[in-house]
Amino acid sequence: MNEVEKNPNKYNGETLNVENKGGDRKLYIESYGCQMNFSDSEIVASILSKEGFSTTTILEEADLVLVNTCSIREKAEQTVRKRLETFNAVKSKKPDMKVGVLGCMAERLKHQFLEEEKIVDMVVGPDAYKDLPSLVGKVDEGREAVNVILSKEETYGDIAPVRLGSNGVTAFVSITRGCDNMCTFCVVPFTRGRERSRDPESILKEVNDLWDTGFKEITLLGQNVDSYLWYGGGLKKDFEKASKMQKATAVNFADLLTLVAEAQPNMRIRFSTSNPQDMTLDVIEVMAKYDNICKYIHLPVQSGSDRILKKMNRLHTREEYMRLIDNIRSIIPDCGISQDMIAGFPTETEEDHQDTLSLMEYVKYDFGFMFAYSERPGTLAGRKFEDDIPEEVKKRRLNEIIQMQQKHALYRTQSHVGKTEEVLIEGDSKKSDQHWMGRNSQNTVVVFEKEHYQIGDYVNVKIEDCTSATLLGKAVEYGAHQS
Ligand code: SAH
Ligand code: F3S
Repeated sequence: MNEVEKNPNKYNGETLNVENKGGDRKLYIESYGCQMNFSDSEIVASILSKEGFSTTTILEEADLVLVNTCSIREKAEQTVRKRLETFNAVKSKKPDMKVGVLGCMAERLKHQFLEEEKIVDMVVGPDAYKDLPSLVGKVDEGREAVNVILSKEETYGDIAPVRLGSNGVTAFVSITRGCDNMCTFCVVPFTRGRERSRDPESILKEVNDLWDTGFKEITLLGQNVDSYLWYGGGLKKDFEKASKMQKATAVNFADLLTLVAEAQPNMRIRFSTSNPQDMTLDVIEVMAKYDNICKYIHLPVQSGSDRILKKMNRLHTREEYMRLIDNIRSIIPDCGISQDMIAGFPTETEEDHQDTLSLMEYVKYDFGFMFAYSERPGTLAGRKFEDDIPEEVKKRRLNEIIQMQQKHALYRTQSHVGKTEEVLIEGDSKKSDQHWMGRNSQNTVVVFEKEHYQIGDYVNVKIEDCTSATLLGKAVEYGAHQS
């Protein structure tokens, strides 16, 4: 999943805590981190709406303030701590206001927030949101409210999310929770627990409901979507113990994509995140087969060095990753591909770093999400490997990676110029209310004059110019998926 850290509350330019009228108590909810957190906040808002909470964007007006937190890097946690200071300053003038921490930091720090730091009233981990009504009850009575129990089954498949701050066009649908991969740098397996998949029927129902209420694009979310596997419930790791019947009727990610693509032929389908070690040719072929599945793959690699990949416990080599890229390009020649990269993992040498740059040169990614290594307590790297790359070296390497990514992004956007591409309109362009902003299949932002087109329309746009991040064009006619 892509990070949304620098723009709390914003994703793709949308404000996520807009008002949703309903009850008489006011909930203010802010989300940090990955798309999954933003999606989880919609589940939280749904659960609390049944308890009489309506959402507000005005902090001072809130009875309950919740912050859905991210632990992926130290900086993400610092950002949340600063916000908690602000919340507590408001609370000091409004003592009835309650403050709760949700998500990965809640799971990682558990009781520490309440007992040592005393800066919040409630601590709720990512698998405990159904307990919120009772936790809120405890807080109301002035009691301690903590639930950080991780679950082997919870997928929130039965909760219809309240779409917060929605543009009415694009929505997230979560399909798996947790992660079993144990990359040595990553805190997610500890904060989000074991991997489990959601019942395909509940996924299809959510997708159909979204279509019926006017949505045109969904992104299927999971830490590792390629590893989706439904065999009637249970953990992914227990599949071997499933019955013959369960094995014969199991639904994998390629099957799920097929089901969703066929259920709504005019709905755009995206997914995130793919893991190179689990992505199969079947998935790539299903993508090629259905024209409503967007031709875009977020395929984090983290490093181009075999030695570092091994130390990260990424279960593929540089060569295998390059062959996967070759397969994608031969089956889907116009596929957009993006990366996540970590600079300065323990023991990384200049040679390892050059391997990363040369891999980037080979792939020429359309987009990238690039980070300096941040040691996370409790992870294998945090426990066993010294964080030995000096900050200035990490920064310099990260900058070189970012520079190269910008060069490749421009190379990719230039390749769209002169083509006519189907764009789904998401809203006003950031710079002008006379222009629409949408995306092409490859997930690149396209800006063009509004003319008579409306938000949510599919429009064929002739691409005339570009920057490294944006395509500029002119609408030609409605697109093939306009219904
Ligand atoms: N599979 C997940 C990964 C979540 S973390 C997904 O859905 O994308 C997102 C990205 O953060 C990772 O791909 C990695 O590049 C980065 N990251 C994770 N842990 C990190 C750490 N300790 N330091 C720096 N970057 C990290
Ligand atoms: Fe983290 Fe690796 Fe899973 S990056 S979320 S442990 S695939």
